[in-house]
Amino acid sequence: MKIEKRFPEKRVFITGSGSGLGRAMALEFAARGWRVAVSDIDAGRTAESAAMVNAAGGSSLEIPCDVTKPENFEKSLRALVKEWGGTDIVVNNAGVAAGGFMDKISLEEWNWIIDINFKSVVYGCRAFIPALKRQGGGHIVNVASNAGIASLAEMASYNVTKAAVISLSETLRIEMSPHNIGVTVACPTFFKTNLMDQFKSPDERQRKLAEGMFAKANTSAVKVARHIIRSVERKKLYVLTQGDAKLTWRSKRISPELYFRLLSWAYRKGLFEKYAGLK
Ligand SMILES: NC(=O)c1ccc[n+]([C@@H]2O[C@H](COP(=O)([O-])OP(=O)(O)OC[C@H]3O[C@@H](n4cnc5c(N)ncnc54)[C@H](O)[C@@H]3O)[C@@H](O)[C@H]2O)c1
Repeated sequence: MKIEKRFPEKRVFITGSGSGLGRAMALEFAARGWRVAVSDIDAGRTAESAAMVNAAGGSSLEIPCDVTKPENFEKSLRALVKEWGGTDIVVNNAGVAAGGFMDKISLEEWNWIIDINFKSVVYGCRAFIPALKRQGGGHIVNVASNAGIASLAEMASYNVTKAAVISLSETLRIEMSPHNIGVTVACPTFFKTNLMDQFKSPDERQRKLAEGMFAKANTSAVKVARHIIRSVERKKLYVLTQGDAKLTWRSKRISPELYFRLLSWAYRKGLFEKYAGLK
């Protein structure tokens, strides 16, 4: 069913939509004539996205929201109810990235990434689910990452937050089904955005590895955004946007033992560094 038929009021709220994937999703919805609530920790970027949404054919609402603060989600909901009577789709997209060896990642860095990447999704779901239930339905999109499935080395904190988002989304997929609330979790591999701007790592090695992987990325945020919207339309739980995401998904499920043996072998041989252009 066309997404506009399911949600004729065409209202969407997107966290972290001042850049990258969030902005790309905002513009895709705008091009389809949606009302888009853009929201980010960075007010300048939020305003920029809002202007872009209006120029692309949508109608924007700017909502400042630092996703590490649960009360901001309550405020966002109140603003949406006041302006539009609510929202149909909630996209928990805001996120940051990090790398590091497990024995070197500081507890501060763990707390930082857990707060932004995982607890924010908990806050978003806790604030919006009661409202979606009251209005008789809606859709939650959580932006995780292939990292939550692939579990690659030297990315423990990022992997863990994204695996948690996948698990929460799977649980909600079942729990929300009696309430006509769909759930979709996006698990893309690398695509080019500003994600590296806020990248944290105890040493430069992981930054170089991540930058190398980013440089190889041949998918755009627009493509990923379109894929996510198509998946919402089809009420799909998982969004595995790129070929390598699908390959990881399948091989890990067909033979998890073999998957980790192969990856450990490739890691010992330095194949990831070679791929990222470090060797
Ligand atoms: N780019 C990739 O390769 C990739 C791959 C897989 C998953 N993802 C996920 O996609 C999502 C979007 O990232 P992106 O690649 O577009 O990066 P990006 O840096 O371009 O956009 C992220 C946005 O989140 C905002 N943000 C950061 N902290 C925030 C906070 N506390 N409150 C509110 N907003 C905050 C930033 O200001 C920024 O505008 C993230 O969850 C990321 O983990 C990205």
